[in-house]
Amino acid sequence: MDKTISNILAQEILSKEDIVALLKSKGQDRRLLFKCAHDIKKKFIGNYTYYRGLVEFSNICAKDCYYCGIRKSNNNTHRYQLKDEEILKAAEFAYKEKYGSVVLQAGELFNKKHINRITKLLKKIKSLSNHELGITISLGEQTYETYKTWFDAGAHRFLLRIETSNPELYQKLHPNDSLHSYETRIKALKNLQKAGYQTGTGVMIGLPFQTIEDLADDLLFMKELDIDMCGMGPFIAHADTPLYQYKDELWPIEERFDLSLKMIAILRILMKDINIAAATALQAIDPIGREKAIKIGANIIMPNITPGSYRDDYSLYENKPCTDEEAEDCKTCLEARITISGDEIGYGQWGDSPHFKAKLALSK
Ligand code: 5AD
Ligand code: FES
Repeated sequence: MDKTISNILAQEILSKEDIVALLKSKGQDRRLLFKCAHDIKKKFIGNYTYYRGLVEFSNICAKDCYYCGIRKSNNNTHRYQLKDEEILKAAEFAYKEKYGSVVLQAGELFNKKHINRITKLLKKIKSLSNHELGITISLGEQTYETYKTWFDAGAHRFLLRIETSNPELYQKLHPNDSLHSYETRIKALKNLQKAGYQTGTGVMIGLPFQTIEDLADDLLFMKELDIDMCGMGPFIAHADTPLYQYKDELWPIEERFDLSLKMIAILRILMKDINIAAATALQAIDPIGREKAIKIGANIIMPNITPGSYRDDYSLYENKPCTDEEAEDCKTCLEARITISGDEIGYGQWGDSPHFKAKLALSK
């Protein structure tokens, strides 16, 4: 006889088949999955959501990923680069508003000038905030030395999505050259861990050619890599990208959304004490998408604090929310949203990954 969803949820260890069954669950079974994940979050994380003020400081990118709206070959996008003062002002806003942390994100660049600029910015953000603001960066594949330099300058968390853990699918999503290799991505993730970062990864859900089995493997990949944080969300086709040609073959958008919630819930069950972000892409589909994610396991939200005038240009996918807002608007809006989800905001705290701290304590 097949196992029931309750049987699966009562197990200590989940197999790939178990995860596939959870991803396919419907009705009452789906509700059981969400309830289980909700309870685990409450027990291991508490009813807390932490903020990361997100600064998308440049959409200039040296890479050409087939899914991404800011890819190098997209001539339809207006390229921008925030000035240092603008970035520092956004960080000051996050500090004053007690967001606890910022995330600096941008297109991928590898030149010395860029690397040195980031190092200086990290040091400045640390000093303007009396060393109180936590800093996550999401700046792509770099050398171990660069990761270490940025770590020493004050960044302590890094996000680098694997996008998909299936190497063949990875290849279909990227140009076939050395700049876009799966092996380099894996190596970069390991180097981040070695350099001392709380390391986050994640995937896109509902990509062309992706299967439910791939998604189950993605979750097992994250467990195997022993990540500290995760940000994952639905794939949303962008008209100015090569993958747009498959837009009619994708799973319906509601299904991509539902699978994203299930992925978050299952990951919370698999990795009870990691940080999981409620991705902004969820809100592009459902106006309360991020709140739903918080209810079933996510504990991190990244309010956009990029100056409003630039937000339209950081268009990774279509229908990106909050592009008309300013940082102040997002703040009030989010506070109300999180309270409605039943969580408290961890104001003024870094909200580090408990998983990372536990690992650190063990290694001492
Ligand atoms: N749909 C959803 N997510 C996307 N990203 C890039 N393009 C898209 C898209 N079309 C995500 C990638 C990347 C992150 C910064 O944005 O996962 O790692
Ligand atoms: Fe910018 Fe892929 S297009 S990192």
